Amino acid sequence: RRDPLVLFMPSGKRGRFVAGTQVLDAARQLGVYVESVCGGRATCGRCQISVQEGNFAKHGIVSSVDHLSEAGPKEERYDRVRGLPEGRRLSCSAQILGDLVIDVPQDTVINAQVVRKAADERVFDRNPAVRMCYVEVEEPDMEKPLGDLDRLKVALATDWHFDDVEVDFHITPQVQQILRKGEWKVTAAIHKDREDERPRLIALYPGLKNEAYGIACDIGSTTIAMHLSSLLSGRTVASAGTSNPQIRFGEDLMSRVSYVMMNPDGRGAMTDAVREALNGLIDKVCAEGDISREDILDSVFVGNPIMHHLFLGIDPTELGGAPFALAVSGAVEVKSSEIGLPMNAGTRTYLLPCIAGHVGADAAAATLSEGPHRQDEMMLLVDIGTNAEIVLGNRARVVAASSPTGPAFEGAEISSGQRAAPGAIERVRIDAVTLEPRFRVIGVEPWSDEPGFGEAAAQIGVTGICGSAIIEVIAEMYLSGIISEDGVVDGAMAARSSRILENGRTFSYLLHDGTPRITVTQNDVRAIQLAKAALYAGVKLLMDKQGVSHLDRIGLAGAFGTFIDPKYAMVLGLIPDCDLDKVKAVGNAAGTGARMCLLNRDYRREIEETVRKIEKIETALEPKFQEHFVAAMALPNKVDAFPNLG
Ligand code: FES
Repeated sequence: RRDPLVLFMPSGKRGRFVAGTQVLDAARQLGVYVESVCGGRATCGRCQISVQEGNFAKHGIVSSVDHLSEAGPKEERYDRVRGLPEGRRLSCSAQILGDLVIDVPQDTVINAQVVRKAADERVFDRNPAVRMCYVEVEEPDMEKPLGDLDRLKVALATDWHFDDVEVDFHITPQVQQILRKGEWKVTAAIHKDREDERPRLIALYPGLKNEAYGIACDIGSTTIAMHLSSLLSGRTVASAGTSNPQIRFGEDLMSRVSYVMMNPDGRGAMTDAVREALNGLIDKVCAEGDISREDILDSVFVGNPIMHHLFLGIDPTELGGAPFALAVSGAVEVKSSEIGLPMNAGTRTYLLPCIAGHVGADAAAATLSEGPHRQDEMMLLVDIGTNAEIVLGNRARVVAASSPTGPAFEGAEISSGQRAAPGAIERVRIDAVTLEPRFRVIGVEPWSDEPGFGEAAAQIGVTGICGSAIIEVIAEMYLSGIISEDGVVDGAMAARSSRILENGRTFSYLLHDGTPRITVTQNDVRAIQLAKAALYAGVKLLMDKQGVSHLDRIGLAGAFGTFIDPKYAMVLGLIPDCDLDKVKAVGNAAGTGARMCLLNRDYRREIEETVRKIEKIETALEPKFQEHFVAAMALPNKVDAFPNLG
């Protein structure tokens, strides 16, 4: 007779086990991550699984709950006291009796924890760097002079196979009190990020501590976004965002570097500003998740190189000019309290590696999230801010570059440009016959030609155009013939519509005749042409390096990518031709990558390895850049065709 076959979902890992094997043991042997805090004592409830019933012919398995042993007394007691949800079993108690398809739920919600679905609630395999380990420590004995802390270490080695645990010193003075308070039963938070490093005791709690949290954060130059996740269930329990207070020192990255160069206290002031904002966000997510800062035991941060350096308190001056030297490009691990983020005294902060002087840990995190290096398709990943970070590749090879798009896409350098905020025009359509526009304003429900618009707009005020709408309005102007392929606003159109205004030697388009008057000027069109040509030229360089003329997939990351309509991005030639269905906004991919590294240390190794292999292209040094740039000034492009625009 053959041994029962067990298939774990969603990982798909499988193996045969002798009948009577505990499900938790089987999972461990196969490397399937099943959480356990109590170490199999059937008290924490973290190891829940369920059985998928049915005939899984494809796998040669007929799975049934009857193939699990009956609940033993410990499991029954847990069910009585804490309640097991319908269909759930404790994997530390249930034994395998026959073939099984086992579901490892990712949502083990216990302690009535309020869980809110985050905007992007992807489920990841988990293997956090911090584990909660309940142990029962031998009581002191006059015959055996081993210290309390040393007996705790013995228990951790025996029950959890954490040998030779290093101890954060802040725990040593408290250990006796905690052990006695817990009556020799304690939960140790063990931090072990790398296989070859010693496990480290970073926090200690009396009794069973059945919860631990971590934060993942993307420090953008404009916006900072933070998520609070349970390290034990993987769920995001709170999210918060704020604008980066460094904006008061400089709108874009280079002006912040100049601020540091020109002001002796500039670096310190900007480091303080960002850390203060981060502390504010930590308070916010803790309040929303109803936890204390002390409960945060791990943290992961990403950001572009300049944000990364300023956050760590490193002078970013070297990043202001060639050769754009990073102080550190590899992943960084530091005690959070050392960088002004007090959480638990033992909490560590992990920063993903930077790819190059202008392609940061945020691009690395976005790469990890979207995984060009895991697929056969040739994928382009673009994050457009004041600088575009571009990654292109597939399983065989990944290349990366940044391109100096400038802040035009964010609404700076545009006469009526502004950041996306209430009052900003966010969508635009232009009638090709009458040249009349209709538009939509952030914070105002109806479109400009719908009833109720006037009143609603009067309350908020129509103040400008945000970055994504600038792309739309210029694309619409091009599609309706107001601007030529060279980007010139056609003055002859003034005869057809009073919307075309003469502006000295050039012409502009009147989008909204209010206070302020919102127009798109010839200079605005030029600024967007320059920005999009820089972006496109950067992408083309990477395509040359890869030797490809066609892209299978495009991911547009960041806030800009979320709001921009791919069709308009292609009409203007921001991005190369691609099947429109394959052009996707990937949201805050950098934040998602940070969350992956928080919940699974294997992702940290994956991105460290990937970044080591990514080839960095310095656009400024490539002679072809200029050629591509000139061709890309035209709408949509002088040489390249866009068959997918039809
Ligand atoms: Fe704690 Fe099973 S491991 S209940």
